[in-house]
Amino acid sequence: MRVPASLRPEDMAALPLSEAKTLPACAYADPAFHAFERQHVFAASWQLLARAGQLDKTGDHVVAECAGRPVILVRGNDGMLRGFFNVCKHRAGPLALTDGNARQLQCKYHGWSYTLEGQLRAVHEMQEAKDFDIACIHLDPISTGVWQGLIFAAVQQPPVPLENLLAGITERFAPIELGQMEFHSQVAYDLECNWKVYVDNYLEGYHLPHVHPGLNRLLDYRSYSTHTAEWYSWQHSPLDGSPGPYAAGEAHYYFVFPNLMLNILPGRLQINRVLPVSQRQCRVLFDYYYADIESAAVRKMIEEDLRFSDEVQKEDIGICERVQQGLESGSYTAGRLSPRREAGVHHFQELVRRRYRQVVSGK
Ligand code: FES
Ligand SMILES: [Fe+2]
Repeated sequence: MRVPASLRPEDMAALPLSEAKTLPACAYADPAFHAFERQHVFAASWQLLARAGQLDKTGDHVVAECAGRPVILVRGNDGMLRGFFNVCKHRAGPLALTDGNARQLQCKYHGWSYTLEGQLRAVHEMQEAKDFDIACIHLDPISTGVWQGLIFAAVQQPPVPLENLLAGITERFAPIELGQMEFHSQVAYDLECNWKVYVDNYLEGYHLPHVHPGLNRLLDYRSYSTHTAEWYSWQHSPLDGSPGPYAAGEAHYYFVFPNLMLNILPGRLQINRVLPVSQRQCRVLFDYYYADIESAAVRKMIEEDLRFSDEVQKEDIGICERVQQGLESGSYTAGRLSPRREAGVHHFQELVRRRYRQVVSGK
């Protein structure tokens, strides 16, 4: 797959932040980028798909989409976690339709069955098929990895091991251990904008005073800072602890390329995943975790947190959808970035550009 024709070579050049322009409008508005980025940005990137607690026991499985492909994660008889395309080798039927536990993976179309390790083990009415050897038929595997109780997968070999992708994050927020946090709930939002509009917006606090007056009162805008590592960036702000749902302390907002966000606040973890749906639509999943989800006092705090987070998200959705319309208007090609406030946007867009360049150079 080649780079979409609307992308000019000069749009892909790497520039330092003080000279950089944003990605060109075509990268958000041209439908050719949807399939292109699915293949070249998402297929070989680690995608968060599940929590370790969902795959504790032999036979536990989770069905998911990874870079737009149907996949299944399975705990095998040997205790190993594996991932496969959820695609039967007979005529591409699904091995499972929902999460669950099973002794084998039986295709939902014509009933061929596979071991939990992905080996075809039983078929029926295939006696007359010549040179048909079930021992040679195996589900296509995908890469999997576990970090802090979170399960990741990739449908193509990612350029870096999962530990390298996330290196340094755990140490920085110690002694908090994300794996110890309890999952509370998931909320999904459907947005009428390209996935990169949402990511760009997440990566800067520049819009805070204008789009989120409520949140801005809780965060100290002046000491809001952005840092970058190779594959991720993080924003950091002290919280004053009042008023609102958050205790005093610090807020850390990690963005892991290409579409994962870890929002770490005192006693609370919120994970966002931005999933492209079409060129101008994305779905954002919010997973809420807390250090404690039981006590009555905490339940009230959680309720308030969910309400406030929903309010902030709706403010972001409103602006992101208007930005998408602006990008499609024909009146915008690319703009300049604030070196003080938009280092995270630049870092993300440089990683996107690097992928575009790698495709051009055939790497
Ligand atoms: S497609 Fe799986 S058994 Fe036919
Ligand atoms: Fe925002």
